[in-house]
Amino acid sequence: MSQNDITRRDVVKVAGAATAAVAVSKIVGAPRIQKVRAANNQVVLGVIGTGGRGQYHLTHLNGIDTGRVAAVCDIFETNLQAAIKISKDKPQGYKDYHELLARQDIDAVLIATPLYTHFPITKDALLAGKHVFCEKSLVFKPEEVHELRALSNSRPKQVLQVGLQRRYSKFYQTAKEMIQKGILGEVTNMYAQWNRNPGWPLKQPKPGQTLEQANWRLYRKFSGGLVAELASHQIDIADWMFGAQPEFVVGVGGLDFVHDGRDVYDNIQLILKYPKGQKLTYSSICTNKHLSMFQGTRTEFGECIMGTKGTIEITVGTDKEPAIGLWYYEPGPTVEKAAAKKEIAQMAGATLASTGRGSRAMPILFDRDQVSQNDSFLQREMKFARRWLYAKGVMVPEEDQNPVDVQLESFFDCCRTGKHPLADLEIGLADSTMVILANKALDEGRRVNFNEINTMGVPTGAKTAKS
Ligand SMILES: NC(=O)c1ccc[n+]([C@@H]2O[C@H](COP(=O)([O-])OP(=O)(O)OC[C@H]3O[C@@H](n4cnc5c(N)ncnc54)[C@H](O)[C@@H]3O)[C@@H](O)[C@H]2O)c1
Repeated sequence: MSQNDITRRDVVKVAGAATAAVAVSKIVGAPRIQKVRAANNQVVLGVIGTGGRGQYHLTHLNGIDTGRVAAVCDIFETNLQAAIKISKDKPQGYKDYHELLARQDIDAVLIATPLYTHFPITKDALLAGKHVFCEKSLVFKPEEVHELRALSNSRPKQVLQVGLQRRYSKFYQTAKEMIQKGILGEVTNMYAQWNRNPGWPLKQPKPGQTLEQANWRLYRKFSGGLVAELASHQIDIADWMFGAQPEFVVGVGGLDFVHDGRDVYDNIQLILKYPKGQKLTYSSICTNKHLSMFQGTRTEFGECIMGTKGTIEITVGTDKEPAIGLWYYEPGPTVEKAAAKKEIAQMAGATLASTGRGSRAMPILFDRDQVSQNDSFLQREMKFARRWLYAKGVMVPEEDQNPVDVQLESFFDCCRTGKHPLADLEIGLADSTMVILANKALDEGRRVNFNEINTMGVPTGAKTAKS
């Protein structure tokens, strides 16, 4: 079997989903041009928390016509005024979110406040009858996992969506399809990292802000540290790609290198074990951002999904950097033997093994690049030309939209139609649960089982959804 056979067969197998050399999407972050839509067809939105993430969302919301920002809220005047300025919708500003929630014309809220406030604000918003989009990590404490599940389930007509935007990325969706079609064989391991240098330097508070408010991520009373802020995205990817929730987590963490008064870890190493034996190995450190993926073209974060027949390296796009999706087939024994034979022949008796021989990266392709019977001659020719250019590295596959735009549009769509969100309550709660348990494993230096959540934060004898 030659390498060409493998590639051709795999291409046929994934027809309609994906094949894979370097696939780099264009930068898709720039907000899109606003189209005009009748106001009565728009979801009326309030944005609570207008710091870094809230302002980012507001910029993107300017390009989405299915929702309109009627109100913004922040306890910090500077960020509130910035939000009013950013939004094209001329929203009303509030310092107290209860006043925003009291407005009857507001259908939905987007919550982008520090983690420790997610649950109280989400709870009040649901009780006020609003649909909720809440940033990750959804909740902070074990009792909030149980309480939010019960509350949200008791209000099935209200949408609850979590800000796990990778779920809305065409690259990740295609990777999942490739796994489901068996392209990677049995997926047994995933490695993920989000390393930084420096990681979260201490910010000087602006006038009107305390040191703790400016740096809430660094203190345990407000934050779940690196696990909540960074690992949560990638743990969710492991749950999705493995198709399961973890069975247990072990880990080692330390506050070893950054001494600025923070009390969250500055480095963490985790292993999550899944029911069929799959493992996620995870690293987040604050002292080096090297990334051994994507042929050295990027730093900091990415995920490597490994199966018996292949590997995917993948990372999400941001406003500044493109998404990347690379696929490598696993050289099988036949290929290795043939290659070894050739090498041995060439090297006149040398016993060089071929185990180090890798395969070339190939780009993950989308549906639009797949040739179909319905294509006209010209369409087919265009597709072949595009794929040839991808293979040569001249052109790269592009995601049509930034997944952040897709997740916001999708949220509005769910609010208007009653559709169930992709990143829903249970996905958010499973993710938050693992964040809570991983921090426990780091603190207590022991294996923490996923089902321990069933007895955490519940009065003795009380039943949870899973017990
Ligand atoms: N999905 C992602 O990729 C992503 C990226 C960045 C941040 N986030 C999440 O977004 C959330 C916010 O992060 P950030 O970086 O914007 O933090 P930030 O500190 O920049 O902004 C938080 C804002 O919330 C305001 N705030 C605090 N308490 C409030 C309250 N009770 N009512 C109204 N406003 C209040 C603060 O004044 C601040 O302006 C976090 O949960 C974070 O994990 C998600």
